[in-house]
Amino acid sequence: MPREFGTAGVVGLGTMGAGIVEVLARNGLTVVGVDRDADSVERGRVHVQHSTDRAVKRGKLEPAEQQAIFDRITFTLSMDDLAAADVVVEAVPEQLALKREVFAALDKIVTPEAVLATNTSSLSVTEISVATQRPSRVVGLHFFNPAPVQDLVEVVRTVVTEPEVVEDVVAFGRRLGKSPVVIGDRAGFIANALLFGYLNHAVAMYDSRYVSRADIDAAMVLGCGYPMGPLALLDLIGLDTAYEILDTMYRQDRNRLHAPSPLLRELVTAGLRGRKSGRGFYAYESPDSPSVVADAQTPAEAEEDASPRRVRQVGVVGSGTMAAGIAEVLVRGGYEVRRATSRLSDLAGADLVVEAVAEELSVKQDLFSSLDETCRPGAILATTTSSLPVIDCAAATGRPADVVGLHFFDPAPVTRLVEVVRTVSTADDVVATARAVCRSIDKHPITCGDRAGFVVNALLFPYLNDAVKMLEAHYAGVDDIDTAMRLGCRLPMGPFELLDAVGLDVALAIQRSVFSESREPGFVPAPLLEQLVTAGYVGRKSGRGFRNHPQAIPVSEPTGVPSPSAATA
Ligand SMILES: NC(=O)c1ccc[n+]([C@@H]2O[C@H](COP(=O)([O-])OP(=O)(O)OC[C@H]3O[C@@H](n4cnc5c(N)ncnc54)[C@H](O)[C@@H]3O)[C@@H](O)[C@H]2O)c1
Repeated sequence: MPREFGTAGVVGLGTMGAGIVEVLARNGLTVVGVDRDADSVERGRVHVQHSTDRAVKRGKLEPAEQQAIFDRITFTLSMDDLAAADVVVEAVPEQLALKREVFAALDKIVTPEAVLATNTSSLSVTEISVATQRPSRVVGLHFFNPAPVQDLVEVVRTVVTEPEVVEDVVAFGRRLGKSPVVIGDRAGFIANALLFGYLNHAVAMYDSRYVSRADIDAAMVLGCGYPMGPLALLDLIGLDTAYEILDTMYRQDRNRLHAPSPLLRELVTAGLRGRKSGRGFYAYESPDSPSVVADAQTPAEAEEDASPRRVRQVGVVGSGTMAAGIAEVLVRGGYEVRRATSRLSDLAGADLVVEAVAEELSVKQDLFSSLDETCRPGAILATTTSSLPVIDCAAATGRPADVVGLHFFDPAPVTRLVEVVRTVSTADDVVATARAVCRSIDKHPITCGDRAGFVVNALLFPYLNDAVKMLEAHYAGVDDIDTAMRLGCRLPMGPFELLDAVGLDVALAIQRSVFSESREPGFVPAPLLEQLVTAGYVGRKSGRGFRNHPQAIPVSEPTGVPSPSAATA
């Protein structure tokens, strides 16, 4: 029988500590919350007050229960008040020296049986534990932000943690209504090790002005179904905390992709630490407020400098699902749509032609060259490619200024996001036209440069590749990694569920293109991914990928390319 904890302590009442106090008190524990100064204690109390007020307002908590929660909490400035605690969760800032100091002090205050837990996101639990005389009773207990909402807790055992302590803490996590995943002591554990490379990459993309702040966030929300975009999430996490987590990860693995983006340091140094300070990537109504207010970067993108061209007739080339889906939404949007399934000459009068033929550069280049001959001057030619350079299609024509990428996502009639890809040659009014057409068919356009993977795939696939590398390193299994990402980050699917659904072959092709463009060692495709694809285990469509899928799902038919010679037929 696992031991049941009755009294819990929390040290540090910031973003995480205050949330953890609330979770503990809501689940019937007597809680002592400690911070180092009166203002911080008060801030922690107000945080719990506001959070429970919101729950009462939404009808999720009775006012009497709210009172009972507060009756169970003692807010204090003195660590000595933790003497009776069965378990203490430390949530002070992400600095090793500070955490070791807190643990050394706690060790002298609590009883020998008490368990000490750190909420660290990335620091070595082992190094923290050896600051005490009881390293075998020290664990990591990593909650996710906001603690009352997120279902995951990572229970980190070190090489010296007693198995019974791990059992007790897992039972404790379940009692708090969370799903515990037990893992070893490695920087970032599961969720942050996979999340922070992605977040840092998003900051670098934004910093290079490749895509705007709002577009980067919209891309991941609308393109992947994520609950928040990466920059908004960094603001929620706290940019100082994010910086420390990345820095620790980098120092442990020397992976350049984990070296904190210089912009993070600049923002933190300027005091712009995210929501908690009222400003980070976005500006907020007040410190700790979730409400974003307009700032110099609002609206999202400077409204088009150029006027869009008039578009009435749109040609769609290709016979696959994507072409059919795009044609469907254009018809619904009131456009006169011409499907060129056999003769390109049918597109002679089109104002815009969208191609969705096979994802092969030579095929697309031949098509663009033919379209250039067939289409009237001034007609815009768009490619739906997801992984080929748009500029290669543009260069196959005599009108590169009129060529743009229009990356729709499957299923095109449903997914709202469209990436509008501008090359170095694309004219401003062509981008403006592409965006206007997207809006008129109820799509949300984002604009980005012509780089491998554009925004969504460039951020998504390296993360999926990292998950495969984590599996390959035997740090955690398929189920634990999927659970950690679904519950800890509220993603619609875990990485292996997604890889099996998308196709490992597709993932490998995109990852290869991202790597071959950047030559970034951290983007090298995981050998396990290569091997599974070589073996023909490409996911659902083949019946086996990272998991077995007894019912193989047939691949949709290849998209047809009309013969240019048919144009004169
Ligand atoms: N922010 C997140 O999204 C997130 C998620 C999971 C885990 N974590 C981890 O939780 C921990 C806390 O992060 P945070 O974001 O809540 O930080 P924070 O800066 O919001 O809060 C830290 C709190 O600790 C207090 N503090 C500092 N020194 C203290 C001391 N000696 N004694 C008592 N209190 C002290 C501060 O006054 C502050 O209130 C970090 O280890 C972080 O990595 C953070």
